[in-house]
Amino acid sequence: MNILLVGSGGREHALAWKLKQSPRLSKLFIAPGNPGTAALGENLPIAASDALGLLDAAREKNIDLTIIGPDDSLALGIVDLFQAAGLRIFGPTAAGARLETSKSFAKEFMKRHGIPTADACVFSEASQAYAYLEKASYPLVIKADGLALGKGVVIAHNKQEAQEAVRQSMELEIFGASGKVIVIEEYLSGVECSLHALIDGDRALLFPDARDHKRALDGDNGLNTGGMGTISPSMILTPAIKEELERSIITPFLRGLQADGLKFQGMLFPGMMITSQGPKVLEFNCRFGDPETQVLMRRLKSDLLDLLEATIDGRLASMEPIWERRPAVCVILASGGYPGPIEKGKIIHGIDAAAACDPDIIIFHAGTVQEGDQYYTAGGRVLGVTAMGETLREARDKVYRAVDLITFEGKQYRRDIGQT
Ligand code: AMP
Ligand code: GLY
Repeated sequence: MNILLVGSGGREHALAWKLKQSPRLSKLFIAPGNPGTAALGENLPIAASDALGLLDAAREKNIDLTIIGPDDSLALGIVDLFQAAGLRIFGPTAAGARLETSKSFAKEFMKRHGIPTADACVFSEASQAYAYLEKASYPLVIKADGLALGKGVVIAHNKQEAQEAVRQSMELEIFGASGKVIVIEEYLSGVECSLHALIDGDRALLFPDARDHKRALDGDNGLNTGGMGTISPSMILTPAIKEELERSIITPFLRGLQADGLKFQGMLFPGMMITSQGPKVLEFNCRFGDPETQVLMRRLKSDLLDLLEATIDGRLASMEPIWERRPAVCVILASGGYPGPIEKGKIIHGIDAAAACDPDIIIFHAGTVQEGDQYYTAGGRVLGVTAMGETLREARDKVYRAVDLITFEGKQYRRDIGQT
């Protein structure tokens, strides 16, 4: 089969690495890809947002299956476009992806179908939001309705912070159209976790659990980022909690799709809080997580292509993927300043040496560019260094030995990934 994979992050490098192992793969194209994916297939210079460009490429290269990585490509309706053209594609349509692209839509869906989540109100008028804040109790959480690169959530500890968040989002429009509508919700305390589940419309296939470390600095300090590192398994989700998540979140989610006539084929990746009253959904993502995918792909032993095709064809009930028992760890190396403004173009040394230091190390590229034999930084999250080990401790030791061998000016990473 000829495959077109859309995206350019560590997630896409990890997916490409796994797809490359499929005996059914003929040619792999990645649009636009990165230097890591270039070593596995052919990168095409087409943006992940260029729907028509991607459609043309799929026709020209005789693509049998297109796989969408990023959320914004889903939001643009690329899946709808491909389906209308009669081309096979993995991912929900724009209507399904609204569960991620509109937090108010997701809230209403959850309310309608009894999926536990934080109590919330939706506002499209700033004056009404300010009036609500006068009577509210704190802390509470203010969220831009649309996609905001993971930066659209503010935990307001008092009225002043909440007013400022409303002003920035609704009046100053710092998130553009994404923040003109906001959701104000109850603050939940507990342990955060997430789940990946392939959804074929009426069945779910749960992946092993993985845990992200979202804050920039050690000890969960600093700003929220796209994710600074992951472990799988999460060491949080006991079989009992996983069963509870399936019963209280995944099953009503599937019933909700049926009841609403909402088509959803792709990856569901809910972020959740395990509270004293049980698990509650913080958000739905409708795609593979990054860097969660980097550890999940390291642990997947079965053919990813089989799983993605079974999702599209409604055959998930017959799939029983095999997962590596050993834990996996991923540490993200980010540019100095991330998640704020960063400087690009720093020379990266030591990738090959780090990759060669242990057979259990694989390095996934995210924000890099290559000129000749030399790699340079080109984004906030630069590389994902992954390792596996007999124990989490062993995987951690290996990953940090490799991390130490890679250098670039401003290199920033967390030293406590997997230190449970
Ligand atoms: P989201 O993009 O909705 O997952 O929010 C980003 C982060 O904000 C989450 O990973 C949580 O750490 C935090 N968060 C979101 N909603 C809440 C909430 N209702 N209560 C407490 N923390 C939250
Ligand atoms: N790692 C969080 C995300 O992909 O949204």
